[in-house]
Amino acid sequence: MCSGPHRRPHVARQGRGVPGALAFTLSPRGDPPPDRNTGRQRGNSEDLKHMSEVIRIIQKEHANMAALVKALEKQLADFEQGIAPDYDVIRGVLNYFLSFPDIYHHPKEDLIFQRLREVAPEQASSIGDLRRDHEELDGRTREFAEGITAVLEEAQVPREALLRWGKAFIQLQRDHMMMEESRFLPLAEQSLSDEDWTALAAAMTSQEDPLFGENVGQQFETLRKNILKWQAETLAERG
Ligand SMILES: [Fe+2]
Ligand SMILES: [Fe+2]
Repeated sequence: MCSGPHRRPHVARQGRGVPGALAFTLSPRGDPPPDRNTGRQRGNSEDLKHMSEVIRIIQKEHANMAALVKALEKQLADFEQGIAPDYDVIRGVLNYFLSFPDIYHHPKEDLIFQRLREVAPEQASSIGDLRRDHEELDGRTREFAEGITAVLEEAQVPREALLRWGKAFIQLQRDHMMMEESRFLPLAEQSLSDEDWTALAAAMTSQEDPLFGENVGQQFETLRKNILKWQAETLAERG
């Protein structure tokens, strides 16, 4: 079933039981902070920096997830055209989404949303209940990923099932990130104070919280880079 000799290492199983947890560093990563002119007067540069970095990190994580969704989309498009997909890429993307958002990405957004509800409940309610959305997203992602995994483990891959599950998974992820980029993050930028962002940044970097350890973040980065490397190799092989 695989697309060739199995020269690659198996995708590291991240799972929900990953030891340690979030590496949420606020150190610069090289790309400039987003320029979002909300018209708001900001306090000192440190406070402004905290807001920009929290937002930038969430956007960066969205960009990372979007790149993986795109890799999956490419594999499915090839599969639809009758080209054997790279199942390592597909499995890698699914494993990533089975763990990264739930234990690494959503907790940050949940912290922001919690504060947003406290200081601007009406505005917060206009975008619904982000925590509940995340729970639903996690459940549906798990359902989709398990469905695709079950399909991949069959000797004969039912084409229609793989495509249907895969496309639904892609749409689900994109819709959620688009909502956050277009509504949730701008609302948080407008509504939260400098002090809020400083407190949020501090909460996200707390070393006492087991969710915020360094190692897991690095594991996710390694997995993400491996998936994109496999994707590049496969595309190069196909010419
Ligand atoms: Fe989210
Ligand atoms: Fe998000």
